[in-house]
Amino acid sequence: MKRPLAYIAGTGRGIPAKVMTNQDFAALGLETNDEWIVERTGIRERHITAEGETTCSMAATASRQAMERAGVTAGEIDAIVLSTATPDRLLPATAVDLQAELGASRAAAFDIGAACAGFIFAASVAEGLIATGTAETVLIVGAERMSSIIDWTDRATCVLFGDGAGAAVMKRTNPSAGPHPKGVLATYMRSDGTLADLLYRPAGGATIPFSAQVLADRSHLVKMAGREVFKHAVRSMADATDRALDLAKLTGKDIDLLIPHQANVRIIEATAKHANVSMDKVYVNVDRYGNTSSASVAIALDEAIEKGVITEGKTVMLVAFGAGFTWASMIVRF
Ligand code: ACO
Repeated sequence: MKRPLAYIAGTGRGIPAKVMTNQDFAALGLETNDEWIVERTGIRERHITAEGETTCSMAATASRQAMERAGVTAGEIDAIVLSTATPDRLLPATAVDLQAELGASRAAAFDIGAACAGFIFAASVAEGLIATGTAETVLIVGAERMSSIIDWTDRATCVLFGDGAGAAVMKRTNPSAGPHPKGVLATYMRSDGTLADLLYRPAGGATIPFSAQVLADRSHLVKMAGREVFKHAVRSMADATDRALDLAKLTGKDIDLLIPHQANVRIIEATAKHANVSMDKVYVNVDRYGNTSSASVAIALDEAIEKGVITEGKTVMLVAFGAGFTWASMIVRF
């Protein structure tokens, strides 16, 4: 097990107030129902942004809370790494809007695109910036306004997603801390672009720019081959937990809390079973948020800390899977 170089100093979340329940889909004229959605996914409700709420505004709420809990001011942040699949604008990055909003004038700010695995990718980038001495203090954010890119006429996808943001401040681990310093014990990241078309937005980018035709055929919105994605999610999350445990020289029994990407409770249960972590040690909030893509692990982490499920000395495994495909895991001692 490596000696940690970076640790999580504080977390926060920014959640829209508006709640949409499974029953609310009836008003959209969709042929779906609470029973189907709960049985297949575990989702009961999700939060949806209201007029004026943006990816950046949710990210700012999450970031301010994380900075306050970490005891860090905006001027101390060296870098902002923001993961989103739903940037407020295509240019520039949402991270620079967040930087301006926070007044983090010294920070380098950039977005990364790794979909639902993005918060763990961001944490890994932050760890690298800290390890190389490029940064001392990094703000990482997963922020998503999925409601803006899902097809509200497609019952097979629109019931799955929700909006929200989560953030964490990462700092350098004190090199002279005791024998078991807190921080990142293992990181693992993988991608497979040959499967990109199983979960994607066909149009609206540089290859097929927006046009009247694109808007008419809704090809700028999320398309997903649900069953295929499900199979790969289970396989990849299993791979990610295996690799992180190997790298940290730990077993599932050493994990105090597993925080999986919150897409579907059946994928979560399969992941926990594979990793040999009992469900009472798995954080689940998919019932209240749906799939918030790269915000999902960050929101769950913040809730678990706030509820006192994660306390000092606990070993926590984060694991996620998303469009790309991308998958990643991280083991962190708190
Ligand atoms: N309400 C009612 N019926 C529905 C709904 C709905 N909302 N959506 C689909 N159905 C119907 C289908 O039309 C189909 O009907 P048919 O048999 O008459 O053709 C039937 O339900 C079964 O559809 P399947 O797609 O086979 O259902 P499945 O059990 O696979 O569940 C689901 C679908 C929930 C989407 C599942 O495949 C899944 O969770 N996939 C993974 C999705 C995911 O997690 N994506 C995100 C991961 S990556 C990321 O987070 C970006």
